[in-house]
Formats: sequence, C-alpha cells, structure tokens
Amino acid sequence: MRIACLGGGPAGLYFAISMKLRDPACEIDLYERNRPDDTFGWGVVFSDQTVGNLIANDPVSGAVIQSEFAHWDDIEVHIHGQTIRSSGHGFIGIGRKRLLNILQQRAAALGVNLRFEREASADLADWAGYDLVIAADGANSRIRDRYREHFGVDVQTRRNKFFWFGTEKVFEAFTFAFERTEAGWVWAHAYRFDDNLSTFIVEMDPETWAGLGLDAMDQPAAIALCERIFAQYLDGRALVSNATHLPGPRAWLNFRRIVCATWSFENLILLGDAAHTAHFSIGSGTKLALEDAIKLAEVLNRPGLTRDAALAEYQAERNLEVLKLQNSARNSTEWFETLERYLHFEPIQFAYSLLTRSQRVSHENLRLRDKAWLEGVERWFQSQARGHEVNEPAPPMFAPFRLRAMETVNRVVVSPMAMYSAREGTPGDFHFVHYGARAQGGAGLLYTEMTCVSPEGRITPGCAGMYAPEHVEAWRRIVAFVHANSAAKFCLQLGHSGPKGSTRVGWEGYDVPLEAGNWPVMAASDVPWSADNQVPRPMTRADMDRVVAEFVAAVAMGLDAGFDMIELHAAHGYLLSSFITPLANKRTDEYGGSLENRLRFPLEVFAAMRAAWPSDKPMSVRISANDWMGELGVTPDEAVEIGRAFAGAGADLIDVSAGQTWADCQPIYGRMFQTPFADQIRNEGRLTTMAVGNIYEPDHVNSILAAGRADLVALARPHLIDPMWTLRAAAQQNYRHVAVPPPYLGGMAQLARNLAREAELKA
Ligand SMILES: Cc1cc2nc3c(=O)[nH]c(=O)nc-3n(C[C@H](O)[C@H](O)[C@H](O)COP(=O)(O)OP(=O)(O)OC[C@H]3O[C@@H](n4cnc5c(N)ncnc54)[C@H](O)[C@@H]3O)c2cc1C
Ligand SMILES: Cc1cc2nc3c(=O)[nH]c(=O)nc-3n(C[C@H](O)[C@H](O)[C@H](O)COP(=O)(O)O)c2cc1C
Repeated sequence: MRIACLGGGPAGLYFAISMKLRDPACEIDLYERNRPDDTFGWGVVFSDQTVGNLIANDPVSGAVIQSEFAHWDDIEVHIHGQTIRSSGHGFIGIGRKRLLNILQQRAAALGVNLRFEREASADLADWAGYDLVIAADGANSRIRDRYREHFGVDVQTRRNKFFWFGTEKVFEAFTFAFERTEAGWVWAHAYRFDDNLSTFIVEMDPETWAGLGLDAMDQPAAIALCERIFAQYLDGRALVSNATHLPGPRAWLNFRRIVCATWSFENLILLGDAAHTAHFSIGSGTKLALEDAIKLAEVLNRPGLTRDAALAEYQAERNLEVLKLQNSARNSTEWFETLERYLHFEPIQFAYSLLTRSQRVSHENLRLRDKAWLEGVERWFQSQARGHEVNEPAPPMFAPFRLRAMETVNRVVVSPMAMYSAREGTPGDFHFVHYGARAQGGAGLLYTEMTCVSPEGRITPGCAGMYAPEHVEAWRRIVAFVHANSAAKFCLQLGHSGPKGSTRVGWEGYDVPLEAGNWPVMAASDVPWSADNQVPRPMTRADMDRVVAEFVAAVAMGLDAGFDMIELHAAHGYLLSSFITPLANKRTDEYGGSLENRLRFPLEVFAAMRAAWPSDKPMSVRISANDWMGELGVTPDEAVEIGRAFAGAGADLIDVSAGQTWADCQPIYGRMFQTPFADQIRNEGRLTTMAVGNIYEPDHVNSILAAGRADLVALARPHLIDPMWTLRAAAQQNYRHVAVPPPYLGGMAQLARNLAREAELKA
C-alpha cells in the first residue's frame, strides 16, 4: 500500500509510525512544508494516561517521550492578589519541537520517507499514485477546505485573542495568572515543559486587546507590554515569540473550533486538527491527534475490513471520544470568554470554578486529587452559608440556605412535578403520600406540582388547583403533615395553563387535547401550541384583570393552607410564558413586541401576588431561560434581563428551567444541561438562582453549588423513583447531621455502613 501523509505534525508523524509498525511493507511518503526544526508553539501537555497509550502503541518512541517529560501535580491560580494552590492534578509537558524531533527520528528509522520543505497540493488528482491520502495538515487544512462539502466542515472562530509565548522562567506549577489592566482583564496559562522552558499563553477578550492598543502594536512592543503586565510572575525573564515573521496584531490568534461531520472522502482521510480541534485551555489537541493516528493505523490493519469499512470504523470508534473532549473544550472556552461573571467570587471559589470549568472535573474528582484542599473549599462554603467559622468539612448540598425569613436545612429541592391525580382540583390521598414521602426523604425544600388558579387554568382534568375552599383544606392537611414530620419547607407553585390547557393527563399523551369535554383556552395571542391544539383566544384586558385576581386569591389560600413559599410558574409555554416568548406572543399592543412589553403582564401578576404574600416569606418565579430557537426566541442573554425584571418585582429566587415553549424547539440535552443558564443569570445578573434539569448525582449537586453556578439545586425525575434521594446522598457521603424520621434511623445507619464497606472494597 502506498500512503501519502500531508503534514508532519504530531498526527501525520505518529500515523506514519503506527502504520509502519503494523505493516512494515507499506510505503509512506510524508510531506511537510517546514524544515524539521521549524514549528509554531512551545510546549504541549498530556495526562499520564495518554503517555500510557503511546507506550503501548510504540514502546520505543514512548520510552523516549516518557523519559523527557516534565511532570507536575500542582495548579496555582493567582487572582486578586491571592494564590490558590491545589495538588494531585498529574500533568506532563514536553516541548512541541522536541516531541516532533523524537517522532521524526522514529519515523525515519522505520523507513518513512520524510520530505521536508515540500508544500502539499490540495488537489486529490495530484495524489493519484497513492492508495490513501492522509490530511494531517492541521486546523487550516487546505485539502479539507478544497473538499469541504464532502466533510461537512463547521468552523467557529472564538472571540478571545491569544498569543503563544515561551519563557525561560520555569513554572513549577501549572499557573493561571489573572491581572487587571486599565483596559480590562488579561490572563496567562503557563506551564513548564522542560528543564528550563515554559509555555506562556496570554489571553484576553477582543475589547481589552483593542483597548490596550494591541490591534496596532508591533511584536516587540506587545511583548514588552505583556512582560510588564506579568512582571511579578516572570522574575525578569523575557517572553519569547516564535511567530516573529508575522506583523504584531496577526501574531495574536483567535481559536478556531472545527467539527467535521465526516472524516473521509474517497481515499482522503482527515486526521488530528484537520478533522477537529480542542481549545488549548484543556490541552488535548495533541492527545487527540496521536490517538486518532493509533486508531487509524489499527483499523487499516484489522483483518477482514475493506478500506471503506475501515474508514467508517475509524470514525465510529473515535467520534464519541472526540465529541466528549470537544464538549469539555467548549465549556472551558466559554468559561474564559465569560470570565467577567466570576471575578466577584472569592479567590477560593474562583479557583474551584476554574478547575471545574470543563465539567470533566467534579467535586469528587477534586477530592481524589487533593482531599485537604477540597475540604478547605467545603469548610469555606459552610462558613459562608452559616455566617460563622465552620471547622468540619461537609458536602455543599448540606449547607443551609436563607430566603427572607425562611431557612432551608439544605440545598436539595424536590422540583415541581404535576401528578395529574387530583379530582376537580382537589389533591387526595395520592398527594398526601407523595408529598409526605418526599418531605421525609430529606430535601430541604419541596415544591408542589403546578397548582392551577382556576378550572380553565388547569392543564388537564387531573391537575391540582387552588381556587375552591376544599382545595385549601386538602392542601392544609398535606402541609401540616410535611411540617410535622420533616424539616422540609414547602413551596406552592401557582400557574395557569393558557394555550397548553385542556389536554390529557401525561401518560395518555402530552399536550394532546381531551377526547371530550374540552374547555376554551386563552393565551397572549392566537398561536396554538401545535396544529392539534386549540387556537387560543388572545387575552383582553378584562381577562388579564380576572387572571390577576385569581392568582392573588390563590396566594391568600396558599397562606391559609400554611405554605412557606410561593412560586409563580412563568415557564414552559403556559399562560405567562406565552407572553414572554416572542414565538407565541404576536401582540401589537403594550403587551407585545419588546421584552419590556412582553414582561408587562407576567410582572403585573407577580407584583400583585407579592403584595398579597407576607413580606417575610419568599417568592420565586420559574422561567424558561432558553426557547432553544436561537435568536427567534428567548435567549439565555435575554433570560438575564427576565431574571432581573422579576427580581425587581420582588422575586427572591429565579428557578431556571428552559424550553417547552415551542413545539419545534431543538434543545441540547445532556448532564446538567440547563445549569449554564442558572449560572449566567446568577453571576451576570447577580441574582439568586435554582438549577434544574438532568441533575441526578450528589456529585453534580455539590459541584454546581461549590462552583457558584446556582444557590439551590432541584431534582425532579430522580425524586419520582427515589423519594429518599437526599437521605441516600447523605449516606453515600457519610454525612450524619441530616434529619432522618426517627423510625427510619436503623435503615439509614445500615445503608451508610454498607456503602462505606463497598467503598472500602472498591478502593
Ligand atoms: C496556543 C496553543 C496551545 C496548545 N497547547 C496544547 C497543549 O498544551 N496540549 C495539546 O495536546 N495540544 C495543544 N495545542 C493543540 C495542538 O497544537 C494541536 O492539536 C496539534 O498540534 C494537532 O496536531 P496535527 O498534527 O493535527 O496538526 P499540526 O500540529 O498543526 O500539524 C500540521 C502540520 O502540517 C503542516 N502543513 C500544513 N499545511 C501543509 C501543506 N499544505 N503542505 C505541507 N505541510 C503542511 C504544518 O506545517 C504542520 O507541521 C495547542 C494549540 C495552540 C494553538
Ligand atoms: C412528571 C413531571 C411533571 C412535571 N410537572 C411540572 C410542573 O408541574 N411544574 C413545573 O414547573 N415543572 C414540571 N416538570 C418539570 C420538572 O420540574 C423539571 O424541571 C424537569 O423534569 C427537569 O428536571 P429532571 O431532569 O430532574 O427531571 C415536570 C416534570 C416531570 C417529569
């Protein structure tokens, strides 16, 4: 087999090596436009695991690489004049040039024809003599771009500017240094990669870059400026550029995120950065390139696979790993792009947020890396929450939380969940057992299902209500049980179904109209939820007055029933949400158009409820922070404004859900998928938020809280199958100060013992 490798970076060289090892008879010509010693960049970092893969693939080059790696464990974060140092992170670094030299020597020794200073053609016709053409020509691959429609190339140019410097200052820890300048924040990612050299990447947002005059500054002046900004870290050592051939402003790069739907076309295969890039802040680009190379060589030599089958297999086996890394890289990129959100954090929380930014590292990962440091974070978190010095570390989820005069014993919340089991709006024995069991399960705050303020405001005939005296009695019985038998606080969620009303109970089809007995529905505009649903009547002012009065009456009944808190449901496409989302609100009066107009009626409802609810008791509002319809709908940026507006009307907590506002929306699901919106609203809007949505592990909850991404964490479906979710989480974490119903103490003790024993055996 004859193979042409276009590009002699890590991907091209390592593929050639891996292929030759498996099939010494194949002929490989590698074309690299540069000389062997010319390269961009300085050092690269890997994890210990990547080196293990290299040694397993080629013990010869692997051993050399391993012997030359600089290894370090600590990460230092410098912010606001403080240094936060944590350990156990296990990185290794090597010079890019040295890595390439090792690979070049090994490739030459295995018989690869290395052709340096040869510009590779981007025309497949020029490679007709080869069985395979490997496009390993990096992120700017010309041949990929030539055939871009076959690869489905998607390029995103990110906003921040960065410069990849080297320096002789040897950083013993992986260092993140954040400095404020007169034009904005500038930061460095620095790490040692051999005995006397370090990588030093300087990054900033484009406004700061322009504000500092770097858009018109030559390289020597830019370097001098960066040396001044980071003088305290450089100990008088210079910053060195190896892009000196470029004019100053062009030496500053924007990261380009590249995704390709398909990695091969005919006999042309994309490898490494040509196929996909990962932001430098998670240091995985070279790892991906090397692991691609191993996999491609392996499938090409797998018996019984045709070339095309091998290429399909290559992508199938690599895709998930690449997607996962690109996901983490996106989170990390965005963290640095939205740095301003976190600058008001205390340094210890800022460092925690930085360390967990990609969401690959969680609370428990940090415990494994540096238990003492993590316990310091836990003590800090508990001290903040309790308002006094706490010496015992404890999981963040078990910190109390205060909203006005109400204090929850912990930060776990049973999210509102419609049970569709009421009769004429009256909750019955099902609800008594359901809420009673979940209250006894240890969550600090329990929400009712959406409880409707009128018969027409119900979603289904099975929805609970708060519009008749018998409803108050039924709820009072449940509330009394919760208060008498648990430490949980109880929040009444009030809502009106609007355009999604008059439908069947959930298990008979979501949002499907009733077979008989439908009632007329209303909304902001005459926009139906779907072609199968009723066209709603646009609300008149008289309708609005009636609905405001119904909400206010329900609040008074909630007070009578003994609830601790009220939430207004303004999410998920129901009545108030139909005003907020521009997709459903087509009004041309003062209730439609601008966000201010679209919020007018929901805010009026909220303010009227607030006035009817005692001032020492808290209120929250649930919003859909993203319509998942791009700029056509509510965006997370707009949700910050929505949160601020409700806070202005007296909301103490923004309960941040998303979606369900438009039938054709395209949500991006995943673990904790809505938490970024709670984070944005909390830290950009400086508001109190609750996160919800596919959060199911105690580790998720602790990570979200300690990183300051939300103040409370709600779990819905996990509580459907496990009412005791919080008690189980306490047992898992060996946390003993949780309120357990006395008759259940024995079970709790046994669970804690068994889990501890299992953990010991596993260790
Ligand atoms: C600032 C920065 C920091 C980074 N830090 C890290 C890190 O710490 N750890 C990490 O793992 N990764 C890091 N990366 C990413 C890493 O550099 C890349 O992911 C990795 O180099 C990809 O390898 P590759 O072989 O696919 O591409 P490249 O390394 O880009 O190699 C492509 C090669 O092809 C050659 N070439 C291009 N076009 C032609 C042509 N037409 N003819 C002939 N030759 C051609 C180029 O000269 C080059 O040598 C970083 C990247 C940046 C920008
Ligand atoms: C059966 C069921 C009923 C729900 N009913 C409501 C509701 O009445 N009010 C509400 O705001 N959200 C409701 N939700 C949404 C949940 O509160 C929560 O936001 C969503 O399920 C995502 O959280 P999870 O991944 O923890 O389940 C309901 C969810 C489920 C599964």
